[in-house]
Amino acid sequence: MSDPLRIGFLGAGLIATYHSKSLRRSGAEAAHGVVRAGVYDVDPARAAAFAAASGHHVCASEEEVLDGCDAVYVCTWTSEHPRQVAAAVERGLAVFCEKPLAVDLALAERMTEQVAVAGVTNQVGLVLRRSLAYQWAKHLVDDPAAGRVMSVVFRDDQFIPIQGHYASTWRADRRLVGAGTLIEHSIHDVDMLRFLVGDIARVSANTANFHGHDGIEDVACATVGFRSGAVGTLTSVWHDNLARPSLRRVEVFCERRHVVIEGDDWYGPVSWTDTDGTTGRLEGDALEAAALPLLDGSMNPDGEFVRAVVAGTPAHPDLATALRAHRVVDAMYRSAAADGTVVHVDG
Ligand SMILES: NC(=O)c1ccc[n+]([C@@H]2O[C@H](COP(=O)([O-])OP(=O)(O)OC[C@H]3O[C@@H](n4cnc5c(N)ncnc54)[C@H](O)[C@@H]3O)[C@@H](O)[C@H]2O)c1
Repeated sequence: MSDPLRIGFLGAGLIATYHSKSLRRSGAEAAHGVVRAGVYDVDPARAAAFAAASGHHVCASEEEVLDGCDAVYVCTWTSEHPRQVAAAVERGLAVFCEKPLAVDLALAERMTEQVAVAGVTNQVGLVLRRSLAYQWAKHLVDDPAAGRVMSVVFRDDQFIPIQGHYASTWRADRRLVGAGTLIEHSIHDVDMLRFLVGDIARVSANTANFHGHDGIEDVACATVGFRSGAVGTLTSVWHDNLARPSLRRVEVFCERRHVVIEGDDWYGPVSWTDTDGTTGRLEGDALEAAALPLLDGSMNPDGEFVRAVVAGTPAHPDLATALRAHRVVDAMYRSAAADGTVVHVDG
């Protein structure tokens, strides 16, 4: 039997806790012999609470975590990701890095190159790639009976996450977060636009800043032109309506099918209407039964990461996938800075 896989954590906040619980739920620990190794957080109380709940042990430094594990989760605020991923790659560790990869495109490019050159298994926290709702919607959209995708309307809103259960201060500090709702939250949406419809060729975007945090836009509206010829819109809002923690509504207009994703990001409902008047609607357990086979039976990103690391195979979604979303986000910011001028997406 091979040695157990030692997993470490850098950062012990909200998303680290999510991944730790998700690892437990995945069953991968028992199946592959995972050892909970070190955790380090600049806030010792957070590290201690995380360790007590998860079975990891608190380390005195980032280096101590990295020197004592085979795979590491980088779950710190965004500005720390590039340096920590580089340190992990230097040691040949497998890396799970949270999204966004970095506060700007140049750093994201460099990180993606580093993991590729080192050949380490790498995965990014674009977790909607494993959503039942988005998988089922893609299945409906890809069906030849639907015809070509003509347009998509993607709306995403949540209360600005420096309050409520996020309780983070760093999301109002542009040096730590990069910018506002577009990079911090809607990089997921850009990734899902690419997943559902395809590569994005050009964008035109406008942003607004109602809260007044320097460099932190709280509204972003973009028109996107896909390489396929489809055109669509993305609207992303950070408001103060605490009754709306994170809500997406996506409409995809195909030539002969209309598909809507709403409600829960994972369990739908997903509903559709065809040209002959046929309608369908799946949510909850029924959606899981239909969509899970499309995900090879696993909607758990952490279980998939462990499986890939143990098998020495590529993980998905990887940093290269995230980089493509970063390029679109960067183009949107450049467009917004030029009053909505059309910007072509590089690469
Ligand atoms: N995939 C998702 O859906 C999703 C959801 C939430 C957050 N995120 C991303 O995860 C990252 C963390 O967000 P969060 O909500 O968990 O924030 P958080 O504030 O809850 O946790 C971040 C933790 O990192 C710690 N930290 C900062 N610098 C550090 C360093 N150099 N070394 C060790 N610890 C350090 C902080 O003390 C804090 O405890 C961000 O990049 C965020 O965008 C992704």
